[in-house]
Amino acid sequence: MSKLKHLFFCLLYYGFAQHLPSSNLPIGGVFKKIRFLVCRPLFASCGENVNVEHRAFFYSGNNISIGNNSGIGINANLCGKISIGSDVMMGRDVIIRTCNHCFSRTDIPMTQQGFKEEKPVSISNDVWIADRVIILAGVHVGEGAIIAAGSVVTHDVPSYAVVAGMPAKVIRMRKEISVYEKSNR
Ligand SMILES: CC(C)(COP(=O)(O)OP(=O)(O)OC[C@H]1O[C@@H](n2cnc3c(N)ncnc32)[C@H](O)[C@@H]1OP(=O)(O)O)[C@@H](O)C(=O)NCCC(=O)NCCS
Repeated sequence: MSKLKHLFFCLLYYGFAQHLPSSNLPIGGVFKKIRFLVCRPLFASCGENVNVEHRAFFYSGNNISIGNNSGIGINANLCGKISIGSDVMMGRDVIIRTCNHCFSRTDIPMTQQGFKEEKPVSISNDVWIADRVIILAGVHVGEGAIIAAGSVVTHDVPSYAVVAGMPAKVIRMRKEISVYEKSNR
């Protein structure tokens, strides 16, 4: 897509579509459809039936990929290269980051030290990210995982794990993964 076309859809999203009410409200399906049509051209790849919620923020969106039947939650803030699988649910106020500021030097302010190398975040299929979760750079969330409300995820989340807390730790498994399944992932 040309830069001009991308800019057009960005303006349409941030100037209009993101402000439409949540898809949870009556006739919310109409707002969901409008946001989907406006966002689809912005993303690196976008499946069917994607629900980009009210006031979701993702910069230009050109490094976001998202699969079928997945959502970006109300007031989410996504920054960087992020891949979201299919059937991913996202609560409100979720933050995902792929970059950190450099801070190794103390002789100059951190504002002058630039950024560390980007570490993309990947979220597998069938994941539930609850309200107010923060996912930090380089994290991979395995298939079928649940991230409990308010968790700060600093390490990879195993498939079918339920993680909670700050930093997020496994509180239970939805199912045990056999050695065979693990080696075939
Ligand atoms: C993830 C969740 C579903 C887990 O529910 P659950 O399996 O019934 O877990 P339990 O309530 O039995 O809690 C198990 C343990 O984890 C702890 N825990 C549960 N959720 C937690 C959280 N968000 N942060 C920290 N600890 C948590 C509990 O305190 C409990 O610890 P304990 O055994 O020491 O008492 C639920 O906690 C949650 O976060 N729901 C999300 C709600 C939400 O955001 N909805 C928006 C819709 S998208």
